[in-house]
Amino acid sequence: MQKGLFITFEGGEGCGKSTQARLLADFFEAQGREVVLTREPGGSDGAEDIRALVVKGDVARWDALTEALLMYAARRDHLVKKIIPALNDGKVVICDRFADSTAAYQGYAYGEKALGKETSDALYRMVVGPVRPDLTLMMDMPVETGLERALKRDANVNRYERMGLGFHNRLREAFLKIARNEPERCAVINAARTIPEIRDEILNIVRERLLR
Ligand code: TMP
Repeated sequence: MQKGLFITFEGGEGCGKSTQARLLADFFEAQGREVVLTREPGGSDGAEDIRALVVKGDVARWDALTEALLMYAARRDHLVKKIIPALNDGKVVICDRFADSTAAYQGYAYGEKALGKETSDALYRMVVGPVRPDLTLMMDMPVETGLERALKRDANVNRYERMGLGFHNRLREAFLKIARNEPERCAVINAARTIPEIRDEILNIVRERLLR
């Protein structure tokens, strides 16, 4: 079984995941742990190539299943090349998005065209198998605030940021539902606060759940 720690950050657009993932990496490094800070889709050469296919282009470029298969193809490469070897070496892997994003975006937020839970769970079993995050931090904030931040930040607005408010509201609902269904793995973080406040709460959760 995995010897390292696997921590994932999830949430909608502009919720501050990447900043907090970096701060958490700093915390573990200060403790002398070896950290792999990575992201999805991407994190390995092949997966970064696939990332370009999904984040750019027309909103309706892919149907939900094609898109989920691309995400899982990227995830497979990332797992095999980077995540699993690092966990086997006892490292702390901090990943900015993982499979909950597929479950929430392609699995649910597409509404009538979404894959649904059964298909997304089946893909997880087939591609990821027994690997499971030790902790998932669900960064939660009002959709309008997050989108506004993301649109200000990104010169090249990605495909998902151009999807409507209905899509993003369903997305938030999906992440919260996942957290409710798996409370032992997930912690919901109120991300509508200052960076240090959020960091302190995350560090408390990490100490309590993973370092005792
Ligand atoms: P990022 O903005 O967090 O870097 O992620 C890129 C986009 O990819 C983001 O808008 C969410 C989307 N995404 C999915 O739709 N499904 C997935 O499985 C993952 C990992 C990301």
